[in-house]
Amino acid sequence: MSRSAHPAGPRHADVYPEGHYTAPAADLNVLDEKVWARTVRRDEDGVVTVGGIEVSRLAEEFGTPAYFLDESDFRARCRAWADAFGPDADVFYAGKAFLSRAVVRWLKEEGLNLDVCSGGELTTALDAGMPAERIAFHGNNKSVEEIERAVRLGVGRIVLDSFQEIVRVAHIAQSQGKRQRVQIRVTVGVEAHTHEFIATAHEDQKFGIALADGQAAEAVRRALRLDGLELIGIHSHIGSQIFDMAGFEVSARRVVQLLTEVRDEHGVELPEIDLGGGLGIAYTSEDDPREPHEIAKALTEIVGRECEAAGLRTPRISVEPGRAIVGPTAFTLYEVGTIKPLEGLRTYVSVDGGMSDNIRTALYDAEYSVALVSRASDAEPMLVRVVGKHCESGDIVVRDAFLPADLAPGDLIAVPATGAYCRSMASNYNHSLRPPVVAVNDGEARVIVRRETEEDLLRLDVG
Ligand code: LLP
Repeated sequence: MSRSAHPAGPRHADVYPEGHYTAPAADLNVLDEKVWARTVRRDEDGVVTVGGIEVSRLAEEFGTPAYFLDESDFRARCRAWADAFGPDADVFYAGKAFLSRAVVRWLKEEGLNLDVCSGGELTTALDAGMPAERIAFHGNNKSVEEIERAVRLGVGRIVLDSFQEIVRVAHIAQSQGKRQRVQIRVTVGVEAHTHEFIATAHEDQKFGIALADGQAAEAVRRALRLDGLELIGIHSHIGSQIFDMAGFEVSARRVVQLLTEVRDEHGVELPEIDLGGGLGIAYTSEDDPREPHEIAKALTEIVGRECEAAGLRTPRISVEPGRAIVGPTAFTLYEVGTIKPLEGLRTYVSVDGGMSDNIRTALYDAEYSVALVSRASDAEPMLVRVVGKHCESGDIVVRDAFLPADLAPGDLIAVPATGAYCRSMASNYNHSLRPPVVAVNDGEARVIVRRETEEDLLRLDVG
């Protein structure tokens, strides 16, 4: 993160309170392609388009706030991951990032598999036609009902997260006369460089079974003894929004080490390893994400090398990118409602959404970019904080950014890279209505998740 100099002549010259500020691009009208979906452009008259459609038209037709998702970008990213890992590996899209029936169909068509972590995600996946054998079922506390259903429907793998679950899944499978394919999720003891709430490979947290004190080896011992289970491999997910490859490499090495120990102790070579998701994306121009082919190369090389050294057959690798596929493909479109300049501080720009459609800023201090998209402007940059309409001061969408000083109520602004963990973590706080997701592709826009209505709210309120 940089603490770059402020631009020439902003209204808040020399007064830069806490935090760090990115100097605005020389021209605020220029959209950094790193953070915007692939078909987003600013056309000659200054309006931004996606898939060839002007955002002002989209706002008229679908309203604001709304998420617009570039379908061709989503599909291209799926293909990039699948191609990078090739036919000897499997890519499971992490549905928690964003899941809908349309997304499931795109995944299926592009040859990806799907990671689900709840009965609801499983239902969506199956309803949209994802074959059960292409689904991995995750979670640290799956209910008995969820496990029974997953086993009955024949999900490709259940990722076991605790000793209780090893026994639970084995009993359920056996009672259904089945042998369920499972992986064991281990914590490899890597400190991932990301926000504490989304780091998952250190030992002091709720996921997985620790490698360090022999617990993971014990879990393997128990799983191998149970008739209801077919142990196909080991799973590790070290966290989310990670740029540094080192953590993934250490994780791969430690997982292979466990495979070696399992071979030595049981004479069994587990055929698969899953290295999870977690690849970071660009939310601002400062972020420099790795490409799928770099990740695939690094991971396959390290696994290959370690296995060769240990005399192991190289296992089939799988990965579970969520954010890296869907994150960059969408932006949230808002209408500016009020503008409040605070002398000597910054200007507060209130939009018609907020923490109910993007909780990430409040929850993880996430950084976002923002641009005026309904017109171009040559006005000076002004330091802004984009806030929502909810009843609390932490309702911040973009903490620090620059927008043109002639910004006015009614302008449309867009926050890029909101495809992952925004709609999927959206809430009804203050009885707000969750925005729609509109897929845009080659001049056509269609709603794939509709906007909530007040009727939807009242329907749940049965008192
Ligand atoms: N696999 C497993 C087992 C996971 O738990 C996750 C994310 C993924 C894959 C996908 O990770 P990704 O590639 O999307 O980083 N709500 C947080 C992120 C939570 C991630 C939870 N697990 C956020 O908004 O940053």
